[in-house]
Amino acid sequence: MRLLLVGSSGLVGREVLKLALASPAVGRVTALTRKPLGEHAKLQAEFVDFDRLPEDAPWWKADAVLCTLGTTIRTAGSKQAFRRVDYDYPLEVGRRARQAGTPTYVLNSAFGADPFSHIFYNRTKGELERDLAALGFPSLTLVRPGMIGGAREEFRLVERLWLPVLGALAPVLPTAWRISPAPVIARAMIESAIYPAHGVNVISSDQLSGT
Ligand SMILES: NC(=O)c1ccc[n+]([C@@H]2O[C@H](COP(=O)([O-])OP(=O)(O)OC[C@H]3O[C@@H](n4cnc5c(N)ncnc54)[C@H](OP(=O)(O)O)[C@@H]3O)[C@@H](O)[C@H]2O)c1
Repeated sequence: MRLLLVGSSGLVGREVLKLALASPAVGRVTALTRKPLGEHAKLQAEFVDFDRLPEDAPWWKADAVLCTLGTTIRTAGSKQAFRRVDYDYPLEVGRRARQAGTPTYVLNSAFGADPFSHIFYNRTKGELERDLAALGFPSLTLVRPGMIGGAREEFRLVERLWLPVLGALAPVLPTAWRISPAPVIARAMIESAIYPAHGVNVISSDQLSGT
């Protein structure tokens, strides 16, 4: 099968790419990226500007799209710039892939995603989920991790402070509040792409703690 990945240079995306390339079920991986991703016989890296995505590239037609795109308001510089990466780009990728006939979309969303939330981050994620559902993919999987665990190069204060606390409290925390390790999220995403369930499916954080 052919997969189209967006966000494959990120913490979760790197794990998704690794699993996709290792899977015998996957013959071709097209990764839309702005960074080199290394060489692999199955990998086609396409260097794109997400503000100017091509209309009619052949790789829009795949068996599944897996999206792990995302940024932070701090890195992006404003709420508007954050929304561009966390809402506009994943939705535009979905539109083009769906128009080309791709039947499956797997989104790395977030715990708390809710289009009616008063919290901007949760509302953005919820609006993306809602608007992706409206595109009519035969299979749409919304993977909603809690705080993501893994080795991140970029310094993020909230994660530096909270990850050790959540790690130490793991035995007494409800599973939904535990850390979601990046490889566990990636495994759930790849399985949802290879074995797509019909309709809109949610994989919640309590299924992603890895324990
Ligand atoms: N951090 C958490 O604890 C947490 C919790 C729940 C959900 N989430 C969500 O989970 C998803 C994946 O998280 P992650 O930690 O794996 O993300 P990440 O490591 O920050 O990676 C994000 C990916 O998005 C790409 N990207 C960011 N800005 C871009 C831009 N302007 N143009 C093109 N590509 C851009 C990055 O590409 P470059 O490498 O080129 O920058 C990278 O491939 C995100 O949607 C995030 O909101 C995160």
